[in-house]
Amino acid sequence: MSPVLTILPGRRTVDVTPGTTILKAAHAAGVDITATCGGRGRCTSCRIKFVSGAPPPPTISDQLQLGEGLVREGYRLACQCAVTAAATVQIAPAVDERSFQILGGERLPGAPTPVTLDAGIDKQVVQVTLPKDEHHQTSDLEELLAAAGASVDDVSADVWKTLPATLRDRQGEVTVTRFGRRILAVESGDTALHKFGLAIDIGTTSVVTTLMELASGEQMASVSSLNPQAVFGGDLMSRIAFAQADPGNLRKLQTRIIGLLNQHIEQVTRDSGVLAKWIYKVVVVGNTCMHHLLLGIDPSYVGLAPYAPVLRHAVTVSARELFLKVNPEARVCLLPLVAGFVGADAVAVALATRIADTPEIRIAVDIGTNGEVLLGSREHLWACSAPAGPALEGAQIRHGMRAAMGAIDRVSVADGDLRLHTIGEAAAQGLCGSGIVDAIAALLDAGVIDWTGLIDVDGRERLPAPLRARVLMRGEERLVVIARPGEAGAEREIALTQEDVRQVQLCKGAIASGVAMLQHVAGVSPGDVSELMLAGGFGNYVSIRSALRRQPIR
Ligand code: FES
Repeated sequence: MSPVLTILPGRRTVDVTPGTTILKAAHAAGVDITATCGGRGRCTSCRIKFVSGAPPPPTISDQLQLGEGLVREGYRLACQCAVTAAATVQIAPAVDERSFQILGGERLPGAPTPVTLDAGIDKQVVQVTLPKDEHHQTSDLEELLAAAGASVDDVSADVWKTLPATLRDRQGEVTVTRFGRRILAVESGDTALHKFGLAIDIGTTSVVTTLMELASGEQMASVSSLNPQAVFGGDLMSRIAFAQADPGNLRKLQTRIIGLLNQHIEQVTRDSGVLAKWIYKVVVVGNTCMHHLLLGIDPSYVGLAPYAPVLRHAVTVSARELFLKVNPEARVCLLPLVAGFVGADAVAVALATRIADTPEIRIAVDIGTNGEVLLGSREHLWACSAPAGPALEGAQIRHGMRAAMGAIDRVSVADGDLRLHTIGEAAAQGLCGSGIVDAIAALLDAGVIDWTGLIDVDGRERLPAPLRARVLMRGEERLVVIARPGEAGAEREIALTQEDVRQVQLCKGAIASGVAMLQHVAGVSPGDVSELMLAGGFGNYVSIRSALRRQPIR
């Protein structure tokens, strides 16, 4: 008989073929367990805790990744742990990311004021003569085309279907929406003021959707989430490997992201009161792999030298083709790609910063799991990828989270102890990227972290008592307790571990290497650079002072 596995939270029960890993069984049953390393036993994202039933003996990966303490408490890696007998397991971390309130349409500090957009969407109110003379035969469509000055090839068959009722609703007064020559919609009455678009950034770890009013450039609402493809692999290579493993997997990855975009569309339209049918343009950027997966293109060769994308040109498809729940004729525009690892997101950064328009040399860094660095001026522009990992997006950090309500975004040391600030002044849930950078800078200043990045547990006697009590050695692990349960409203302990500090060092190292390499290739010295720009949610919140904090190398 197949053993029954119960998965918490949600109490989902799954009949499992003996020997199947918990990760595979959960995914087959539609339960999401994040598998950042793609199930190779090289991270801790899939960790689960046995609540009942005997945990199997730990594997080497369990011991290496989780450490003795967690293994003893009943934690295992779901990707390494085969089910042999009935058991109940809890997916960790217990905090459900989806329960976080996502930052909405509020303007972030330093966010740009509305800009004039040239989206190419035109709305025109026209008066159409309704056919009424049976001795002079004409049609609804011909009358519409005559009034709008369009030809029959400009109109999709979808517009024909609703035309009779639309034309007669207001005695022929209709609004025609066009993109170039193409008629996307014909609506009854005057709807010229309702003209909206979406800007979507699909990152390896996070996905952000912003609803824009196309005439004023005003941001109406914004929503961000973790990329749900991450359950099949946190980094690009794991995701490409997953896509290659089975022909159905590419489809799975595509449906995951489209499903999330539709959830985002539902949320931004609900938050703003805008009807989805008034969204006529969607601009999508992302790295080359995310771009290919959205379009259902096999990304296999993006992961192999010479890392060639399948295509690089700008692509426009209809929302209907991608099953996006906006106006079905809305144009979905994907910006061009530069190379296998310099994608449409880098092109968007170049366009938004106008880095190629100015005489001064500037650097723009899009910090992300697969970040990019751009360096240049109007003379020349260089770009390279800088895979910083997901640390500054709060992933692969023990108590990390995105910059959402309740994230600790500011940490300082005052009166011998830590002072915390959370986004929205809400109860502390975890550390976001800017909070992690702040915490490390403050702990460097206070002498808790030494110049190599080591949490100096041995030297804690020098610290003031309140701070000293936060610096711990638990089993083999060095950590600093940032918030105890009850502090800043936290329900559980929030700590910064030694491994978290190492992740940030790796991230900073990747970005610094990218910048140094471009400077070398371009023959530019640091003194020649007039500005460094940080893109993304992290850039909005980070304290510049903390980001600049470094310990001189001894
Ligand atoms: S260790 Fe299991 S997915 Fe990474």
